[in-house]
Amino acid sequence: MSLERKPKVTPPKPVDREIILDKDDVLISITDKRGVIEYCNEAFVESSGYEEFELVGAGHNIVRHPDMPRVIFKMMWDRIQSKKNIIAVVKNLAKTGRYYWVITDFVVKEDSKGNITGYKGIRKPASRKAIDEMIPFYKKLVEIEKETGLEASEKFFKGFFDSKDTDYNSYIEDLVLDSDMVGADGTREKKKGSFFKWVFGLE
Ligand SMILES: Cc1cc2nc3c(=O)[nH]c(=O)nc-3n(C[C@H](O)[C@H](O)[C@H](O)COP(=O)(O)O)c2cc1C
Repeated sequence: MSLERKPKVTPPKPVDREIILDKDDVLISITDKRGVIEYCNEAFVESSGYEEFELVGAGHNIVRHPDMPRVIFKMMWDRIQSKKNIIAVVKNLAKTGRYYWVITDFVVKEDSKGNITGYKGIRKPASRKAIDEMIPFYKKLVEIEKETGLEASEKFFKGFFDSKDTDYNSYIEDLVLDSDMVGADGTREKKKGSFFKWVFGLE
Protein backbone atom coordinates (compact mmCIF):
# COMPACT_ATOMS: atom_id res chain seq x y z
CA MET A 1 0.00 0.00 0.00
CA SER A 2 1.34 3.44 -0.82
CA LEU A 3 1.52 6.40 1.52
CA GLU A 4 -1.15 9.04 1.43
CA ARG A 5 0.42 11.97 -0.34
CA LYS A 6 0.72 15.22 1.61
CA PRO A 7 -0.68 18.33 -0.07
CA LYS A 8 2.02 20.20 -1.99
CA VAL A 9 3.68 22.87 0.16
CA THR A 10 3.99 26.41 -1.15
CA PRO A 11 7.59 26.52 -2.35
CA PRO A 12 9.84 29.04 -0.58
CA LYS A 13 11.05 32.06 -2.51
CA PRO A 14 14.50 31.17 -3.88
CA VAL A 15 17.40 33.02 -2.30
CA ASP A 16 20.64 33.36 -4.25
CA ARG A 17 22.77 31.72 -1.57
CA GLU A 18 24.33 28.31 -1.89
CA ILE A 19 24.47 25.72 0.87
CA ILE A 20 27.89 24.12 0.62
CA LEU A 21 27.61 20.45 1.45
CA ASP A 22 30.34 18.50 3.14
CA LYS A 23 32.29 16.54 0.52
CA ASP A 24 31.68 13.29 2.42
CA ASP A 25 27.92 13.82 2.65
CA VAL A 26 25.70 11.13 1.15
CA LEU A 27 22.07 12.22 0.90
CA ILE A 28 19.61 9.37 0.51
CA SER A 29 15.90 9.27 -0.15
CA ILE A 30 13.57 6.43 -1.04
CA THR A 31 10.26 6.97 -2.77
CA ASP A 32 7.30 4.91 -3.88
CA LYS A 33 6.49 4.51 -7.57
CA ARG A 34 4.90 7.98 -7.71
CA GLY A 35 7.90 9.77 -6.21
CA VAL A 36 6.37 10.17 -2.74
CA ILE A 37 9.12 10.19 -0.11
CA GLU A 38 9.03 7.15 2.16
CA TYR A 39 12.45 7.49 3.76
CA CYS A 40 15.29 10.00 3.87
CA ASN A 41 18.52 9.91 5.85
CA GLU A 42 19.83 12.54 8.26
CA ALA A 43 22.10 14.20 5.67
CA PHE A 44 19.11 14.64 3.32
CA VAL A 45 16.92 16.06 6.11
CA GLU A 46 19.69 18.39 7.28
CA SER A 47 20.46 19.87 3.85
CA SER A 48 16.78 20.30 2.92
CA GLY A 49 16.06 22.37 6.02
CA TYR A 50 12.79 20.47 6.53
CA GLU A 51 11.95 18.15 9.39
CA GLU A 52 11.65 14.44 8.68
CA PHE A 53 7.91 14.50 9.34
CA GLU A 54 7.48 17.22 6.73
CA LEU A 55 9.37 15.23 4.09
CA VAL A 56 7.88 11.77 4.61
CA GLY A 57 4.67 11.52 2.57
CA ALA A 58 5.52 14.60 0.50
CA GLY A 59 6.12 14.46 -3.24
CA HIS A 60 9.83 14.67 -4.03
CA ASN A 61 9.22 17.93 -5.83
CA ILE A 62 9.18 19.50 -2.34
CA VAL A 63 12.87 20.31 -3.02
CA ARG A 64 12.38 21.19 -6.69
CA HIS A 65 14.26 24.33 -7.70
CA PRO A 66 12.72 26.57 -10.41
CA ASP A 67 16.15 26.77 -12.12
CA MET A 68 15.90 23.05 -12.92
CA PRO A 69 14.67 22.38 -16.47
CA ARG A 70 11.58 20.18 -16.78
CA VAL A 71 13.30 18.11 -19.45
CA ILE A 72 15.81 16.72 -16.93
CA PHE A 73 13.03 15.28 -14.76
CA LYS A 74 11.15 14.00 -17.81
CA MET A 75 14.25 12.20 -19.05
CA MET A 76 14.92 10.90 -15.52
CA TRP A 77 11.37 9.49 -15.13
CA ASP A 78 11.45 7.97 -18.65
CA ARG A 79 14.67 6.18 -17.73
CA ILE A 80 13.73 4.87 -14.30
CA GLN A 81 10.25 3.78 -15.38
CA SER A 82 11.94 1.61 -17.98
CA LYS A 83 14.24 0.23 -15.24
CA LYS A 84 17.35 2.10 -16.36
CA ASN A 85 19.51 3.85 -13.82
CA ILE A 86 20.48 7.45 -14.45
CA ILE A 87 22.76 9.95 -12.81
CA ALA A 88 21.86 13.62 -12.92
CA VAL A 89 23.21 16.93 -11.69
CA VAL A 90 20.41 18.56 -9.69
CA LYS A 91 19.98 21.94 -8.02
CA ASN A 92 17.70 21.58 -5.04
CA LEU A 93 15.74 24.17 -3.09
CA ALA A 94 15.97 24.10 0.70
CA LYS A 95 13.14 25.24 2.97
CA THR A 96 15.04 28.48 3.61
CA GLY A 97 15.02 29.28 -0.14
CA ARG A 98 18.75 28.58 -0.40
CA TYR A 99 20.04 25.97 -2.84
CA TYR A 100 22.49 23.07 -3.01
CA TRP A 101 23.87 21.12 -5.96
CA VAL A 102 24.08 17.36 -5.95
CA ILE A 103 24.86 14.51 -8.30
CA THR A 104 22.10 11.96 -7.90
CA ASP A 105 22.18 8.32 -8.84
CA PHE A 106 18.57 7.22 -9.36
CA VAL A 107 18.23 3.52 -8.66
CA VAL A 108 15.21 1.36 -9.44
CA LYS A 109 13.87 -0.95 -6.73
CA GLU A 110 12.19 -4.15 -7.91
CA ASP A 111 10.49 -7.08 -6.21
CA SER A 112 11.40 -10.70 -6.94
CA LYS A 113 8.99 -10.73 -9.90
CA GLY A 114 10.66 -7.72 -11.49
CA ASN A 115 7.84 -5.29 -10.63
CA ILE A 116 9.03 -1.78 -9.80
CA THR A 117 8.32 -1.11 -6.11
CA GLY A 118 9.91 2.32 -5.85
CA TYR A 119 13.09 4.29 -6.38
CA LYS A 120 16.12 5.36 -4.43
CA GLY A 121 18.11 8.57 -4.88
CA ILE A 122 21.71 8.54 -3.67
CA ARG A 123 23.39 11.93 -3.77
CA LYS A 124 26.89 13.29 -3.41
CA PRO A 125 27.77 16.98 -3.53
CA ALA A 126 28.31 17.96 -7.18
CA SER A 127 31.83 19.06 -8.11
CA ARG A 128 32.36 22.71 -9.00
CA LYS A 129 33.25 21.63 -12.55
CA ALA A 130 29.95 19.78 -12.96
CA ILE A 131 28.00 22.74 -11.54
CA ASP A 132 29.79 25.25 -13.77
CA GLU A 133 29.08 23.14 -16.86
CA MET A 134 25.42 22.65 -16.02
CA ILE A 135 24.50 26.25 -15.04
CA PRO A 136 24.55 27.74 -18.59
CA PHE A 137 23.07 24.59 -20.14
CA TYR A 138 20.17 24.39 -17.67
CA LYS A 139 19.58 28.15 -18.03
CA LYS A 140 19.16 27.73 -21.79
CA LEU A 141 16.77 24.81 -21.33
CA VAL A 142 14.62 26.73 -18.82
CA GLU A 143 14.47 29.69 -21.25
CA ILE A 144 13.43 27.41 -24.12
CA GLU A 145 10.77 25.80 -21.91
CA LYS A 146 9.39 29.22 -20.97
CA GLU A 147 9.42 30.59 -24.51
CA THR A 148 8.53 27.56 -26.59
CA GLY A 149 7.75 24.57 -24.39
CA LEU A 150 8.94 21.18 -23.29
CA GLU A 151 9.07 19.61 -26.74
CA ALA A 152 11.51 22.25 -28.02
CA SER A 153 13.61 21.82 -24.91
CA GLU A 154 13.73 18.05 -25.44
CA LYS A 155 14.91 18.60 -29.02
CA PHE A 156 17.63 21.03 -27.90
CA PHE A 157 18.66 18.66 -25.10
CA LYS A 158 19.01 15.77 -27.55
CA GLY A 159 20.85 17.92 -30.10
CA PHE A 160 23.31 19.16 -27.49
CA PHE A 161 24.49 15.63 -26.68
CA ASP A 162 24.12 14.27 -30.24
CA SER A 163 26.48 17.01 -31.42
CA LYS A 164 29.04 15.73 -28.91
CA ASP A 165 28.39 12.09 -29.86
CA THR A 166 27.28 11.24 -26.35
CA ASP A 167 24.23 11.24 -24.11
CA TYR A 168 23.42 12.96 -20.81
CA ASN A 169 24.25 9.96 -18.64
CA SER A 170 27.65 9.29 -20.20
CA TYR A 171 28.45 13.00 -20.19
CA ILE A 172 27.77 13.28 -16.45
CA GLU A 173 29.68 10.06 -15.72
CA ASP A 174 32.69 11.54 -17.53
CA LEU A 175 32.37 14.76 -15.52
CA VAL A 176 32.43 12.78 -12.27
CA LEU A 177 35.39 10.72 -13.40
CA ASP A 178 37.22 13.82 -14.59
CA SER A 179 37.59 15.02 -11.06
CA ASP A 180 40.32 12.42 -10.51
CA MET A 181 38.06 9.76 -9.21
CA VAL A 182 38.62 6.10 -9.49
CA GLY A 183 36.10 3.38 -8.75
CA ALA A 184 35.75 1.84 -5.30
CA ASP A 185 37.67 -1.07 -6.83
CA GLY A 186 40.53 1.27 -7.78
CA THR A 187 39.83 1.27 -11.53
CA ARG A 188 38.39 3.85 -13.90
CA GLU A 189 36.80 1.25 -16.11
CA LYS A 190 33.05 1.77 -16.32
CA LYS A 191 30.96 -1.09 -15.01
CA LYS A 192 27.36 -2.01 -15.74
CA GLY A 193 24.71 -1.27 -13.09
CA SER A 194 24.78 1.49 -10.54
CA PHE A 195 27.44 4.04 -11.34
CA PHE A 196 27.66 5.19 -7.72
CA LYS A 197 28.11 1.63 -6.50
CA TRP A 198 31.13 1.32 -8.72
CA VAL A 199 32.59 4.81 -8.20
CA PHE A 200 31.86 5.38 -4.53
CA GLY A 201 30.98 1.89 -3.31
CA LEU A 202 27.52 3.25 -2.45
CA GLU A 203 24.26 1.41 -3.00
C1 LIG B 1 14.11 8.64 -6.02
C2 LIG B 1 13.75 10.01 -6.50
C3 LIG B 1 14.48 11.09 -6.09
C4 LIG B 1 14.20 12.39 -6.53
N1 LIG B 1 14.96 13.41 -6.08
C5 LIG B 1 14.68 14.67 -6.48
C6 LIG B 1 15.44 15.76 -6.00
O1 LIG B 1 16.39 15.61 -5.22
N2 LIG B 1 15.10 17.00 -6.43
C7 LIG B 1 14.06 17.23 -7.30
O2 LIG B 1 13.81 18.38 -7.63
N3 LIG B 1 13.33 16.20 -7.77
C8 LIG B 1 13.62 14.93 -7.39
N4 LIG B 1 12.87 13.89 -7.88
C9 LIG B 1 11.88 14.16 -8.95
C10 LIG B 1 10.55 14.63 -8.41
O3 LIG B 1 9.75 13.52 -8.10
C11 LIG B 1 9.82 15.49 -9.50
O4 LIG B 1 9.64 14.74 -10.66
C12 LIG B 1 10.59 16.77 -9.85
O5 LIG B 1 10.93 17.49 -8.72
C13 LIG B 1 9.79 17.66 -10.82
O6 LIG B 1 8.66 18.10 -10.17
P1 LIG B 1 7.44 18.78 -10.95
O7 LIG B 1 6.89 17.72 -11.87
O8 LIG B 1 6.47 19.19 -9.89
O9 LIG B 1 8.01 19.93 -11.72
C14 LIG B 1 13.12 12.59 -7.43
C15 LIG B 1 12.36 11.51 -7.85
C16 LIG B 1 12.67 10.22 -7.41
C17 LIG B 1 11.84 9.07 -7.89
